[in-house]
Amino acid sequence: MPVPAEPVEPPVPSVASVHAGQALYTRSFLRAYDTLVYRVNSPLTWRCPKGRLVALYDRHVSGRHLDIGVATGVLLDECRFPVPVPDLTLMDLNPHSLAAASHRLRRYAPRVHQADVLRPWGVPGGLVDSIGMFHLLHCLPGTLRDKGVVFEHARQALRPGGTLFGATIPGTGVRHNRSARWQLALANRRGIMSNRRDRLEDLDAALAEVFTDHEITVVGSVALFRAR
Ligand SMILES: C[S@@+](CC[C@H](N)C(=O)[O-])C[C@H]1O[C@@H](n2cnc3c(N)ncnc32)[C@H](O)[C@@H]1O
Repeated sequence: MPVPAEPVEPPVPSVASVHAGQALYTRSFLRAYDTLVYRVNSPLTWRCPKGRLVALYDRHVSGRHLDIGVATGVLLDECRFPVPVPDLTLMDLNPHSLAAASHRLRRYAPRVHQADVLRPWGVPGGLVDSIGMFHLLHCLPGTLRDKGVVFEHARQALRPGGTLFGATIPGTGVRHNRSARWQLALANRRGIMSNRRDRLEDLDAALAEVFTDHEITVVGSVALFRAR
């Protein structure tokens, strides 16, 4: 009788490669972040204006929300929560991102939680009704198949019926213009982004593995997703 194959665990990413994905977010870089990312890169290079991302928040954000990979918190600042004072938790590996976003969103008195999204999150299970994960996956080492572990962590943190939503820039499966190809090559070489081997179809498969219902919409170079 054939022996069933052992389940293949995703390779454990090195500490250095995980660190590289968040090392850029110093205090001074965060001061330039909104201008650089949302006035230049998003509309011109990735061809996905900030309004599209904020609209995704407006559709799915709940009154009990966990946001992961926050940088300056600009999208959370501009989105419309369904309640005046949401129960908001911000999670990031980088303390400068947590400080910048929690200060900006201080009107909501958010909880902050420093953790690596690739490892167990250390938050109570079934805690929240929505999780936002914007422009985080393309910072993480590995392929989208390996990164799928974060979807399992998200499922555990969500209440039954809760929604995960976000955006990422896959290396393949979307159309990149010349500027996007140049930026991807540079950012991957520096370890700021790690998405050369991220395939759109692997995002689809990784979401399908964990969630019963999901949807991906491509805008320019960016894959917008939601799953429950
Ligand atoms: C490109 S910014 C995205 C900011 C914001 N969500 C947006 O869309 O404008 C990526 C954020 O993810 C954080 N990050 C990178 N790697 C991480 C990891 N392994 N675990 C948790 N956060 C991480 C960085 O520190 C940074 O704040």
